[in-house]
Amino acid sequence: MQKKNQKLAAILEGQPVIPVLKIGELADAVPLARALVSGGLRAIEITLRTPDAIDAIRLVASEVPDAVVGAGTVLSPRHYDEAVDAGAKFIVSPGTTQELLDTARDASVPFLPGAITPSEVMALREEGFSILKFFPAEQSGGVAFLKALASPLAGMRFCPTGGISLKNAKDYLSLSNVVCVGGSWVAPDELIAGGEWEKIRVLSREAASLKQAG
Ligand code: 3PG
Repeated sequence: MQKKNQKLAAILEGQPVIPVLKIGELADAVPLARALVSGGLRAIEITLRTPDAIDAIRLVASEVPDAVVGAGTVLSPRHYDEAVDAGAKFIVSPGTTQELLDTARDASVPFLPGAITPSEVMALREEGFSILKFFPAEQSGGVAFLKALASPLAGMRFCPTGGISLKNAKDYLSLSNVVCVGGSWVAPDELIAGGEWEKIRVLSREAASLKQAG
């Protein structure tokens, strides 16, 4: 578990923002990943919310060697296994289930499960996790809520996601218990649909220059 925690920490500590991606057209996967990587965001999360998501992970893993591709919106062991087979280097879920925890325990690829409440965080801490996704961040109390968890749940760090943009990312990143934030703002649907890779590269560069505290 410690080794997997270290693997996950190395990925998430490496950049302030993890782009959360929804890829509708498989042909967009590689140019999108290249744009994000060239802007400075190497770790990217492709969500399993579209039919081609697993193929998109496979393509990016094989064709964009500088990217560290992860799978998001992983809701079941089948998702977990398919994403790992496709080359995902980390697995993200909006929450967690016992089945996912069992799968994660046997997998070599680290898991970033979602949690909000102190009890959820404590349960995952007991399972050996030290970094969790805090989702949906803004809707669940945002910066003030996360800040309040820092002292009683010392040692636990978070990747808040949901409702985060360039405007409020800095507030989250200034907290000692935030390792990075996640967000879709660096790759908006309309820019992907228009093949506006240069604009996405600029958004990536802007996000990559934010400072991490925790
Ligand atoms: C996620 O899956 O992490 C969120 O849907 C991303 O949230 P956002 O679109 O508000 O950035």
